Amino acid sequence: MNSDERVNKLSGISINGETALYGVIGNPIRHSFSPKMQTLAFQECSINAVYLPFLIQEFQLPQLLNAFAISGVQGFNITLPFKEKIVPYLDLLSDEATMLQSVNTVILTTEGWKGYSTDGDGFVRSLTAADVSIKGKKVLLAGAGGAARAIAVSLALAGVSELAIVNRTQKKADNLAELLRTTVPNLCINTILPADLQMDIVINTTSVGMHDNGCPLPDSVFNHCRQVVDIIYNPPMTPLLKKAAERSVPYMNGIDMLLYQGVEAFEIWTGQKAPVETMRRSLIDSVYSSTAIDHI
Ligand code: ATR
Repeated sequence: MNSDERVNKLSGISINGETALYGVIGNPIRHSFSPKMQTLAFQECSINAVYLPFLIQEFQLPQLLNAFAISGVQGFNITLPFKEKIVPYLDLLSDEATMLQSVNTVILTTEGWKGYSTDGDGFVRSLTAADVSIKGKKVLLAGAGGAARAIAVSLALAGVSELAIVNRTQKKADNLAELLRTTVPNLCINTILPADLQMDIVINTTSVGMHDNGCPLPDSVFNHCRQVVDIIYNPPMTPLLKKAAERSVPYMNGIDMLLYQGVEAFEIWTGQKAPVETMRRSLIDSVYSSTAIDHI
């Protein structure tokens, strides 16, 4: 590549003395799809900013926010394994982040570093974008890990009428149900597979089906439900989704949850509407042209 070609390649990105810096911290981080997706989004909106990956060790967390403030970082995402570990170092938390004690998006405000959890709202937004209505619906949620907690809180706040949470480790499902009962007292919650299985929406948040041929729920869940969602996006068709397709039950995978958690982060940082289609194209290109499996 000659120097003209190099300059041309960079001509879409305006890097100068005023370029703002955003990023994502995690370990590992090199498979992250966010640097490309968010930098393209900044470009599309003519925002003078770039977004970089930061490989962080746990012992560096206490100094991280000072180092970021000194370096001019204005906001960042957090992925595994720091979503909970970052919480004690933040100055402010959104309501969802307070409830979950987990953060995936941080912005520098005049009052300090403020943490948000956009996974759950990103999930709800992905359903809304697909015209799947949630209000008043009965939802079966498989799993009670970090993603399930974020999704359950957002679903509860979005007005589902009934939530059944089933998990291999019963105690985690019970703890999540307890958190929801204190947050949304009118919501009907249980933590066993309902006998009648008359659920409208079935959601898998476990990793079953990601590396194996397993299905996290019995076939009887398909008898009534009108929408199946698997938050796994790679492979794009899990055994659960294949079964839904065979029975002509509408289904979606987790790529749009991944997209909309990033959309929400972009909007928190910029106060502007995110260029969703550009971000989707970037994500689909990155995710399905690589073998990487990462959550953010
Ligand atoms: P994430 O952040 O993606 O939610 P996580 O917090 O590790 O990841 O949660 C993983 C979820 O998948 C949990 O609900 C876990 O069940 P346990 O709480 O019993 O560990 C579930 N999971 C993982 N492997 C599983 C398996 N082989 N069978 C059933 N559930 C499984």
